[in-house]
Amino acid sequence: MSRRIWLTGASSGIGAALAEQLLQAGHRLAVSARSEAPLQVLAARYPGQVLVLAGDLSDAAQVRAIGAAIHAQWGALDTLIVNAGTCEYLEVRDFQAAMIERVMRANLFSASYCIEAALPLLRAGIKPHLAGVSSSVTYLPLPRAQAYGASKAALRYLLEALRIDLAAEGIDVTVISPGFVDTPLTQKNDFPMPLRWSAAKAAAHIAKRLEQRPLEIAFPGVFIAILWLLAHLPKRLQLSIGKRMARSSAKEPL
Ligand SMILES: NC(=O)c1ccc[n+]([C@@H]2O[C@H](COP(=O)([O-])OP(=O)(O)OC[C@H]3O[C@@H](n4cnc5c(N)ncnc54)[C@H](OP(=O)(O)O)[C@@H]3O)[C@@H](O)[C@H]2O)c1
Repeated sequence: MSRRIWLTGASSGIGAALAEQLLQAGHRLAVSARSEAPLQVLAARYPGQVLVLAGDLSDAAQVRAIGAAIHAQWGALDTLIVNAGTCEYLEVRDFQAAMIERVMRANLFSASYCIEAALPLLRAGIKPHLAGVSSSVTYLPLPRAQAYGASKAALRYLLEALRIDLAAEGIDVTVISPGFVDTPLTQKNDFPMPLRWSAAKAAAHIAKRLEQRPLEIAFPGVFIAILWLLAHLPKRLQLSIGKRMARSSAKEPL
């Protein structure tokens, strides 16, 4: 059945590939990102299915306007997928709190603005579903990932705690935790990214799993299993491994 879905970060990478999957499945999509041109291309390719709602999601007023536009067009929302985000790595010798603030704004505050705008619409929707793209970085601390990891761990907590309070209203919450995915975001990385998936493969996996409304969609399986094992080692051992990773420029956070 066709659903009314608001997908953020649909202009590139995982979001753009996921938009394709969802549109091909016949859903209606409200798509948001700062760059409007790729969203308009989607709208032209899938006439009548796409609502282009560009804007800077780290600006609460712009997000409220997007929510109002969805309300005016659809009156309700069945699914929100909070996917928009960014990554910056921290140089510990040049620790800048402003960078942490920037990444938290992009990954956590923007998501909370979207959730605020979407919740009243989801309450009027059919089998409402809230999903958010966190990261497998949240499974254990990794060097240089302080800002990114903190923002994604905070997003995970926000979603998992919301899940409890929204259960009574029948709103399901799914946390999406990708490993490495080949996107413009990771193409900037200058280190090996083991078991990296293409954006198309990641999007196909997410789209398929979303239908089952699991609590978590984490992939690739082998990568997640390795992280899980590392995360369950004693903290001292984790620190020793982390220190070795920090010394080697060949190993960096996801
Ligand atoms: N790629 C990976 O390996 C990986 C792994 C784990 C988690 N993730 C997460 O997956 C999500 C998608 O990342 P990606 O890899 O697909 O990166 P990407 O290609 O850079 O896509 C990021 C998307 O977010 C949008 N965006 C960023 N800041 C925004 C803002 N302030 N307002 C509106 N839109 C904004 C971008 O659009 P505009 O620039 O046009 O605004 C773009 O559409 C992110 O949350 C990322 O942290 C990625």
